[in-house]
Amino acid sequence: MAESMMGLKRSCRCAEVTEANIGQELTLMGWVQKSRNKGGIIFTDLRDRSGLIQIIFEESDCGSESFAKAEKLRSEFAIAVVGVVEKRSGAANTNLKTGTIEVRAKSLRILSESEVPPFPIEENSKTKEELRLKYRYLDLRRPDLQKNFVVRSRVATMVRQFLADEGFLEIETPTLIKSTPEGARDYLVPSRVHPGNFYALPQSPQTLKQLLMCSGFDRYFQIARCYRDEDLRADRQPEFTQIDMELSFVDVDDVLDVNERMLQKIFKEINGIDIELPIQRMTYREAMDRFGSDKPDLRFGMELKNISEVVKDCEFVVFKGTLENGGSVRGINAEGQGAMPRKKIDALVEYAKGFGAKGLAYLAIGADGTYKCSFGKFMKPEELDAIVAAMDGKPGDLLLFAADKNKVVFDVLGNLRLELARQQDLLKKDEFKFLWVTEFPLFEYDEEENRYVAVHHPFTSPMDEDLHLLDSDPGAVRAKAYDIVLNGTEIGGGSVRIHQADIQAKMFEKLGFTPESANSQFGFLLEAFKYGVPPHAGLAYGLDRVIMLMVGADSIRDVIAFPKVKDASCLMMEAPNVVDQKQLDELGIAIAKNEE
Ligand code: AMO
Ligand code: AMP
Repeated sequence: MAESMMGLKRSCRCAEVTEANIGQELTLMGWVQKSRNKGGIIFTDLRDRSGLIQIIFEESDCGSESFAKAEKLRSEFAIAVVGVVEKRSGAANTNLKTGTIEVRAKSLRILSESEVPPFPIEENSKTKEELRLKYRYLDLRRPDLQKNFVVRSRVATMVRQFLADEGFLEIETPTLIKSTPEGARDYLVPSRVHPGNFYALPQSPQTLKQLLMCSGFDRYFQIARCYRDEDLRADRQPEFTQIDMELSFVDVDDVLDVNERMLQKIFKEINGIDIELPIQRMTYREAMDRFGSDKPDLRFGMELKNISEVVKDCEFVVFKGTLENGGSVRGINAEGQGAMPRKKIDALVEYAKGFGAKGLAYLAIGADGTYKCSFGKFMKPEELDAIVAAMDGKPGDLLLFAADKNKVVFDVLGNLRLELARQQDLLKKDEFKFLWVTEFPLFEYDEEENRYVAVHHPFTSPMDEDLHLLDSDPGAVRAKAYDIVLNGTEIGGGSVRIHQADIQAKMFEKLGFTPESANSQFGFLLEAFKYGVPPHAGLAYGLDRVIMLMVGADSIRDVIAFPKVKDASCLMMEAPNVVDQKQLDELGIAIAKNEE
């Protein structure tokens, strides 16, 4: 029996009731967290998004009809209670905001009954994520998830207010656009009116926001949904949300300045931390050299050291051969880990191999200063001393070395550094280390495609100092591109754009476009560039990632209302799904039958 709202009006949310309300009659609505019948008296915890409050039913207060209904209450029934706020008769519950009060019910309506839910609605749920995602609407009733969405909503509001105050206009751009194969894989949408033709869902509003600059809007932002068909990870979803912005008549510093003030404001409001401005900047080169990563986690040290010079004359073939082939030998000092058992070191070697290492050399310094070294038999004692000195090794330290092409060495040691930090519990979720990484390479060579690809995107401007290298040494050209990194996660990225048609044409040429293919894909942008383009630059955050770090979640799924799982499907709606033949016919689409 589901009763209606007729004549009832909710007074406030459950956990908004305080001792100041004692003596007042209130109407509260929500879900039954738990109901305990003690014979003649029923205690019910009522829950809504604000929290819990205890309701007391006694027949002498609420009458026999309501009491009979109260006896039927089960978890997740939706109910309305009219009652009087009282000081708690029993001991106060210090875990609850409303722990010193309770509501003595005068009447009860059951708005909706509930079957036994497939899992208990409780904080720190132990239920498998798969089941929770199938019933996501129930999972979302859990307070620990709800608080993430409160933060998310507050951040979106603050961002809008901050950017509006800074003169930005919020402008929407279309999500049925043109496919441009550069970047990740597009999601395609077939056109009914133009059979055989497809729209693409935007990977970002990049070209459109640049056109808005051409139109003179000068400061644009949008909280924009983006779509990328790529392999999912804990910090990646096929559809995600960007805080996207673009500014005209600006250079790198202007973009960084407004963004760090925005970050300062929202992290102060939500996390109560004071970000010191300006935020530290580091070039890509320095980030790689010191941390083996373009998104270094600065919550701990353990920096990489290049010992190539120190070992260049040694007889250890692994080191020698690597240096002869143009690679490098680098190491990290895991301070205080010198007594690590052999088994654990072997596990680190295996971990390193997962990132392409051929091996991992180590040197453990005992408490007495003696060495235990995996390559000791190939080295003279004074060579080992020189290595230890170069690594600032002290008794009790563990030194780990990789020798390979720079790319592999960085990848191996950068990841090993993180793994050691995880093992030593150095990654505190309530510590926030921001960093701008600047001067990214413009291109990177794609071995599979046998051509250069844009590191950021094809509209990113080369650094003026490196323009002369565009033809002679494209790999060495640095870009006016920047990423904002928080605790080792890239939370945003952007660049100064090319606004000169000739440089844009050159860029496309370097990326392997013919003038015709550049025109057929980006003709609209190139055409716009003929009519007075302002110099412009911008940046986009992954909003989901920002919120994930703010609330200390382990995955962006926890801050997205209805996320997809690893294979990009939605377990709740069961999307994607097979569609009607009629729909396919209208679109002129025939499904090629898969043999399996
Ligand atoms: P970029 O591709 O670096 O730049 O994306 C900007 C930010 O979006 C977030 N992000 C993602 N978040 C969740 N799931 C994903 N699959 C995903 N992919 C990216 C990241 C990233 O830093 N148009 C440019 C921005 C610009 O130049 O202004 C762009 O899209 O946090
Ligand atoms: P080996 O002579 O093969 O026993 O190697 C001696 C040590 O060097 C072992 O600890 C190997 O793991 C390590 N090693 C092998 N290849 C590399 C490499 N490319 N970089 C760093 N260490 C390596």
